[in-house]
Amino acid sequence: MNEIAPRPNNLDAFWMPYTANRAYKSTPRLLARAEGMHYYTNDGQEVIDGTAGLWCVNAGHGRREITEAIQKQAAVMDFAPTFQMGHPIAFQAAAKVAEMTPDGLDHVFFTNSGSESADTALKIALAYQRARGEAQRVRLIGRERGYHGVGFGGMSVGGIGPNRKQFGALLPYVDHLPHTHAPEHNAFTRGQPAWGAHLADALDGLVALHGDTIAAVIVEPLAGSTGVLVPPQGYLQRLRELCDKHGILLIFDEVITGFGRIGAPFGAERLGVTPDMITMAKGLTNAAVPMGAVAVHDKIYSAIVDGAPAGIELFHGYTYSGHPLASAAAIASVDLHRAEDLPGRARAMEGYFEDAAHSLKGLPNVIDIRNMGLVAGIELQGRAGKPTDRATRIFHRCFDAGVLIRTTGDIIALSPPLIVEKPHVDRIFGTLADAIRAEAA
Ligand SMILES: Cc1ncc(COP(=O)(O)O)c(C=O)c1O
Repeated sequence: MNEIAPRPNNLDAFWMPYTANRAYKSTPRLLARAEGMHYYTNDGQEVIDGTAGLWCVNAGHGRREITEAIQKQAAVMDFAPTFQMGHPIAFQAAAKVAEMTPDGLDHVFFTNSGSESADTALKIALAYQRARGEAQRVRLIGRERGYHGVGFGGMSVGGIGPNRKQFGALLPYVDHLPHTHAPEHNAFTRGQPAWGAHLADALDGLVALHGDTIAAVIVEPLAGSTGVLVPPQGYLQRLRELCDKHGILLIFDEVITGFGRIGAPFGAERLGVTPDMITMAKGLTNAAVPMGAVAVHDKIYSAIVDGAPAGIELFHGYTYSGHPLASAAAIASVDLHRAEDLPGRARAMEGYFEDAAHSLKGLPNVIDIRNMGLVAGIELQGRAGKPTDRATRIFHRCFDAGVLIRTTGDIIALSPPLIVEKPHVDRIFGTLADAIRAEAA
């Protein structure tokens, strides 16, 4: 094989995120180049990208339209502040995003990541309740197994134990809805399960407990990081109704489901429920430059902005909110989504992808398969006393055979770029099936 990038001599300095550093550094796998549906390792091995990087390279790797837009903007203006100043491209990027979001969510606050988007949305929710005279609404509701990034807000409303346990008491005034993982009712469902809408009614119970102190509920419309939980039919509709009934804002964290992943520009559209805010990141720039955003309903924007005395209306923002290079990437990425109808491509490929995913049913230790759009979760029975071991070994086998998959616990998550074609789907699931069989014992 051709070595296309040298292996670094020192792997020690980089404290890698969400990584078993010692294990990784003892047998490193280095990705050195990417194009279309593939990565190439530093020694030249081709690896098909079954995960769109980290659920983010939705338009495929190395898209010329995006890289050229970034290069051009870097030459024109590298950086300009957006605090009490502005530059055209940030306004253009916001307008582009607002064209894609559901009607009414017409104002866009830029961040640099999904985590910052979650924390921004929670802060806007608190500011909104205060602005409309409901300052007692200080409580934030998340959901068990939810993932909203790693800031203190997102972590607090998040519901994945290991992400929280090292970090103390987190935010006060937070509570959680029950998760919707119910394989005893829904195992091997294709798309949205029929059982579980009533799980949203737990919000009534939280209101009974906390009264009128709840500001917002935040959920992923389809939970990704916890291992792909597709919302039960009617669940999100019920949550919307209860939020309206109780004066609570509903936030959809669409960091994964945004930008075509489940066959529509946003999950809100596909699932038929419009929240009051949508958080996004990842696919927004096709991950070529870090950027996140929160799309905010007009009623929230006007309550906070129009209702404020003269001066700054929201004391929040990041040095890089609306960064010129990220804005250029976002505009090019949204244009690509439109020109190539990437959400439509995802929808068109969904049936084939679903059949391929469910063809794994019956393989050793496969206890559930869940899917929607171009996302699939394959849940495995873990090895007794060795959680994650089976999935990790399957990951290594797939990688060595040239397929990148993702694992979370003993669940395998697949989310290829939306440009995926049938032979890629065959290759991804064929390789995975071999690896699952090889780890049967
Ligand atoms: C739903 C959701 N919210 C927030 C985040 C955090 O995004 P980031 O890693 O860009 O901070 C993620 C990351 O996977 C996510 O899936």
